[in-house]
Amino acid sequence: MVHVSQDEQKRAAGRAAIAYVTPGTVIGVGTGSTVAPFIEALGEMPERIAGAVSSSERSTAALLALGIPVLDANTVEGLELYVDGADEVDPRGYLIKGGGGALTREKIVAALADRFICIADGSKRVDVLGGFPLPVEVIPMAEAAVTRRFAAGVLGTAGEARLRRTADGSPYVTDNGQHILDVHGLRISDPLAFESAVNDWPGVVTVGVFAHQKASICLLGTPEGVQTLTF
Ligand code: 5RP
Repeated sequence: MVHVSQDEQKRAAGRAAIAYVTPGTVIGVGTGSTVAPFIEALGEMPERIAGAVSSSERSTAALLALGIPVLDANTVEGLELYVDGADEVDPRGYLIKGGGGALTREKIVAALADRFICIADGSKRVDVLGGFPLPVEVIPMAEAAVTRRFAAGVLGTAGEARLRRTADGSPYVTDNGQHILDVHGLRISDPLAFESAVNDWPGVVTVGVFAHQKASICLLGTPEGVQTLTF
């Protein structure tokens, strides 16, 4: 069998998403290493998109570098399409996101869109969400309380929340000026109920379960080519 690296799978999935983009429209653009080749392909379109609503400072810089206008989310009423990666994809199209720290803006943009095209390499496909530590953006004042709640358990699953840190040991700070807890050891069997429950906790900005804003389609890079999963 031909070896196709994870990076090559990401690149194939990212570039495949261009087939869903209508020239002249404004689309939502996510964040990450699978989104990077998608942005690159946007820059190569013979008939360009009118603009993008971006989910991070990082993607904004990449879009602007290619001459693609970036619009404020407040100036659009809705989007035809949102394209973004994921850390885990379950059989129903429910996702874990936020490995790159952009989960709050990603959820805002996903909620504006009619369709969410998820792009990922084959390793992201799972039966049950939770193997990847769940990112949760929190107001720093609530970190200890939210950590205790995860340890006590929610909807039959408990986890150990660890504050995300940068290489120099300081807390990682999101584009929104908040912190991220990565919660290890969860097994999320009811993502819709889990997302709603954690969203209710004081101090939680965004939980990285995307169940209410799940994927419509997942373009999955595999050694055999890009698979299209429709949910
Ligand atoms: C960023 C995200 C990314 O979509 C997720 O982490 C996947 O990243 P990559 O495409 O680099 O594997 O949620 O917050």
